[in-house]
Amino acid sequence: MLDSNYFHYTDKRLNCEEVRLEELGRTFGTPLYVTSAKSLVESYKAFEQAFEALPHFTCYSVKANYNLTVIRTFAELGCGCDVNSGGELYRALQAGVAPDKIIFAGVGKKYEEIAYSLECGVLMLKAESLSELQAIDQIAGEMGKIASVALRINPNVTAETHPYITTGDSKEKFGIDEAELPEVLALLRQLPNLRLVALDMHIGSQIFDPEYYVAATVKLLALYNLSKTMGFAIEFLDIGGGFPVTYDPCKPATPIERFAEKLIPMLLPAGVTVIFEPGRYLVANGSVLLTKILYKKRNHAGKEFFVVDAGMTELIRPALYQSHHEVQAVTRHDETVVADIVGPICESSDFFARHRKIDAAEEGELLAVMSCGAYAAVMSSNYNGRLRPAEVMVNGSDVKLVRKRETLEQLIQSELL
Ligand code: LLP
Repeated sequence: MLDSNYFHYTDKRLNCEEVRLEELGRTFGTPLYVTSAKSLVESYKAFEQAFEALPHFTCYSVKANYNLTVIRTFAELGCGCDVNSGGELYRALQAGVAPDKIIFAGVGKKYEEIAYSLECGVLMLKAESLSELQAIDQIAGEMGKIASVALRINPNVTAETHPYITTGDSKEKFGIDEAELPEVLALLRQLPNLRLVALDMHIGSQIFDPEYYVAATVKLLALYNLSKTMGFAIEFLDIGGGFPVTYDPCKPATPIERFAEKLIPMLLPAGVTVIFEPGRYLVANGSVLLTKILYKKRNHAGKEFFVVDAGMTELIRPALYQSHHEVQAVTRHDETVVADIVGPICESSDFFARHRKIDAAEEGELLAVMSCGAYAAVMSSNYNGRLRPAEVMVNGSDVKLVRKRETLEQLIQSELL
C-alpha cells in the first residue's frame, strides 16, 4: 500500500490531506482526479534541496501534467517550464510562466510553432537536427530576431526502463548524434540568426540507476569541452528529466539524493548553470484517480472482476506500458478478495490491475488508483465517446475545482454536420 503524508487513512477512510476522498466523490462525481497541492510543493522542494549545491534552473516538464493550476503551483515557487509543442507553450503562458523561463523542446516543431516561440521570447529552443537548426535560423531571420538555441545530443546510452520511454539510444529518433556534433557546430557558425546557449540531453523516463546519467553526462561534458575549444560560450548544460518515483512499494525508487551525489561533482567544475527537466518526479505521487465500483462479477472460472467507471481513457499507462498502479479502497474493509479491476472500454487491455488483492469493497463504493499525477490526465482521450474527468486540487482542508468535467456538448463542439 502506498501511504503518504498526502494520501492516508484515518478511521478507515482514505483522505487527501485533510479531506475525505469519499466526500470529494460525492461532491464532484467520478471519475475524478484529486491532486494534493502540498505534495507538489514538497516534491519540488525535495528536488531543489538535493541539487542545492549546484547552480541550476529547474524546468518542470509540463507534458507530465499540464493542468494550469499544477503549472502555476510550480511557477509560483520559481520553477521554469519545459514545453514540447505550441499547445504546451500556450498553456504555460496562460498559467503565468514568464516566457524567459520556458524552454521549447520537441523532435518535430512546425514552422508556426517555432515562430510562436520566438515571438514570445522563450529562453531557448532545443534543436534536434541539422535541418531544424536551418529552419530556426531562417524563421528567426525573417522575424529579425536572434534565436537562442540548445543542441539536443543523443548520447547513445540505453537506460534500463520500459522500451517505450527510453530516448537516449541511437536507435531512437531523438537528438543529434554525438559524433555529428563537430559538423553541426561548424555549420552553426554560418547561421547568423542563431546563438548557441546550451547542450542538452534526455535519456529516458523512470530511470532507477544513476549510472546511466553518469555515462551520458561524461559524454555531454566532453562535447561541452569540444564546443569550448571551437569558441562557443555555452551557458547551460541540460541534463533532462527521467528521475524515478515509486509506483509499487515493492520496487521503491532510488532517492533523488543518489542522483545528486553523482551528478553534482561531475557538473560543478564546468562552471555553467545546469538545467533539469523533471516531470514525473514532481507530480506522479501527487494525484489519485478516484473511481466508483459499478459492478462486481465472477465468471465460470471463479475469476472476480470489479468493473469501475474509469478506464484506459483516463489512465492508459497499464495498457500501454504494463505499468503498476496501486489501487486502494477509499473505505477500508477487513476482508480482502483477489480481483481484476477493469474499466468500461471495449478493449481487453482496459484494466488497472489484474489478479490484485484488494479490500472487499461493495458496488457503489470508491477506489483510488494511486500515483496518477504524471502521464495520466494528459494522456486521456475521448475514445468510446468518453468525457474527460473533472480535476480537483486539495490544499489542507481547502478544495478547488481546477478542471470541469467535460460535457456532451463539448464532445462534438468542433465537428461540422
Ligand atoms: N524532458 C524531455 C525532453 C522529455 O521528453 C521528457 C519526457 C521529460 C523531460 C520528463 O521526463 P520525466 O521526468 O517525466 O521522466 N508517458 C510515459 C512517459 C513519457 C516521457 C516523455 N518524455 C509514461 O507514462 O511513463
